[in-house]
Amino acid sequence: MVGMWDDGRLCYGGDYNPEQWPAATWREDVALMRRARVNLVTVGVFAWSRLEPAPGRYDLGWLDEVLDLLHDGGIRVALATPTASPPPWFSLAHPDALPVTADGVRLHHGSRDTYCAAAPAYRAAARSIAATLAARYAHHPAVALWHVHNEYGTTCHCPHAEAAFRRWLVEHHGDLDTLNAAWATSFWSQHYTDWAYVSTPRATQYLGNPGQLLDFRRFWSDTLLAAYVEQRDLLTAANPALPVTTNYVLGDWVPVDHARWAAEVDLVAVDHYPSAVDGGAEEQTALAADLARGWARHGRRRATTRRGPAPVDGPATWLLMESAASQIHTTGRSHTKEPGRMARHSLSHVARGSQGAMFFQWRAPAGGAERFHSALVPHTGPDTRVFREAVRLGEHLDRLAEVTAGEVTASVALAFDAASGWALRHPGMPSTLLDGHAELAAAHRALWRAGYGCDVVVPGDPLDRYRLLVLPAVYLADDATAGWVRAHVEAGGHLLVSYLSGVADPYGRVHLGGYPGAYRDLLGLRVEEFHPLAADEQVLLSGGGTGQIWSETVHLCGAEPVYTYVGGVLDGRPAVTRHRTGDGTAWYLSTRPDDRTYRRLLTEVARTAGLAPVCPDAPPGVEAVRRAGEQGSWLFLLNHTDRPQRVPVTGVDLLIDTPADGTVVLPAGGVAVIREEPAPTASVTATPPMTGRPLPA
Ligand code: GLA
Repeated sequence: MVGMWDDGRLCYGGDYNPEQWPAATWREDVALMRRARVNLVTVGVFAWSRLEPAPGRYDLGWLDEVLDLLHDGGIRVALATPTASPPPWFSLAHPDALPVTADGVRLHHGSRDTYCAAAPAYRAAARSIAATLAARYAHHPAVALWHVHNEYGTTCHCPHAEAAFRRWLVEHHGDLDTLNAAWATSFWSQHYTDWAYVSTPRATQYLGNPGQLLDFRRFWSDTLLAAYVEQRDLLTAANPALPVTTNYVLGDWVPVDHARWAAEVDLVAVDHYPSAVDGGAEEQTALAADLARGWARHGRRRATTRRGPAPVDGPATWLLMESAASQIHTTGRSHTKEPGRMARHSLSHVARGSQGAMFFQWRAPAGGAERFHSALVPHTGPDTRVFREAVRLGEHLDRLAEVTAGEVTASVALAFDAASGWALRHPGMPSTLLDGHAELAAAHRALWRAGYGCDVVVPGDPLDRYRLLVLPAVYLADDATAGWVRAHVEAGGHLLVSYLSGVADPYGRVHLGGYPGAYRDLLGLRVEEFHPLAADEQVLLSGGGTGQIWSETVHLCGAEPVYTYVGGVLDGRPAVTRHRTGDGTAWYLSTRPDDRTYRRLLTEVARTAGLAPVCPDAPPGVEAVRRAGEQGSWLFLLNHTDRPQRVPVTGVDLLIDTPADGTVVLPAGGVAVIREEPAPTASVTATPPMTGRPLPA
């Protein structure tokens, strides 16, 4: 890992919307940015109607002035193409480019994302405004990065989308027999005899077709990517030295396969807004950062130049592009982040490899739909707690430039597959509680709480550096994925598979002969029946824990029980099992253990795999993440408790430039980043023998 810029600084700043403010405010903004040591701002994300007030009539003078001001202030610009929000004139001129819902309702302008990305008029207009910006600003000294669009993630069912979907299907399936087989169209008389009969998955009287729903998402991922790539190519043609990115939005509603997209961006950029108010926010933050780092491994490799990464071999990079200065979005209300929390969230990302910490947004607007969204400069102005914390964060990030020499390395691989997550949400599944992101988060949370770092991988990623592979409800598996898991086990790797992993093929057709078809031999078992649980239901497990969401009738075919079900129809039957596989062990969870049990179990699984936590002596509530490389080792310690905490460590506490001689005392809610001296050895212990005994409670 290396820094993005040759001044070595981490990125700090956020979305800046000068189009919402008078020119006098711009000058104050630059002065305040300098005070906070802001060095990168994203400009123009939603400025289309101000850049092109009428078709082909551009008003760019104000942007010239803003870019010059920022440059004079020493602030780099991620210049956005404004294509996530076409102006009203565009929608009126091209009503066919407005999006249509699955129910056939044509949506209206008056918000953002008011386009269909398959509509030719929209694509042409997007290319045109991108080309205009490229021609004018590709060599502007302030511009260091292109930021295409905003949070690609829309779908549409209009005639343009439908025609494009058919073309995509022809390309992917070749002929109708293949499509009919993939979608299992003999079921409910859906057999297609002409491509013209195939539509997008519109609203239907009853359950839709799972294969069609999956392909629709894949189609949108590819279509949105094509929309991004055509803008990227225009921008790159204007100045090949300027890197290009787009900010990812996370969530299972997003029809984007981010890992695949990473090959097309110069920098993986993610937006992250936790939804939990309690400690869950920190756990969500850690997961988002681990996901981003995993995607970055698929990225275009660029090395550092004065202006930013250049297209030569080098480590992939990622950046937290948006986060909230003082707000957690929960259902129905927003929660103000407590003092210190903004910094902890930012540094949790930096600890996991982010090239800095960026925010939505610089200054809180007086009006508009997001008028109460937090900002580094809040409505009350700079004489505020939030702005003071922003200034302090800027100082801290400046002190941490050296950490970019270190990479996060983990021995646990946690698998995630976007399409599996989509499929678990489809109608007709045995439970509406199934949620791929929640399963990923539960496994990640268990590792996080047990103090183990992990890398998020996608099926097919190299696994040689990992001792343990975890598959949390990775529902879809083709032969390649099954072979990928098998090869890991055959190479002596350990494996943990949770329920519903490997149950269906990439079109959602069930692998027959007993679940989970793709892995039952490796796991030494066969699942005969599902017993999904109600939202408020739990099953008791031997060892004192409970299971939620799901339970199953498991037959052992070589595996041994670790926990059994207690009571109910599954009384005494295996709930959690393990199976010796050469040098490794393959564990199976037929239910979702409660958090305490999951953590205990993963601790045992990791111990069996010969792994040790990142910082075994860190007290509960203190998160430890290590970045290490040839030039040293940096330990991030984040105290998420409301009490001071002591951690045994030796080195230099970079944030306060003070030696840590054997112990560091973290203030309540505080952070320390230690340059470790001497650097520690890897967190792998000798593999202990498998005991064959049930785990202690
Ligand atoms: C997203 C968008 C921003 C803003 C924030 C609000 O990340 O990119 O424009 O809407 O959400 O949290």
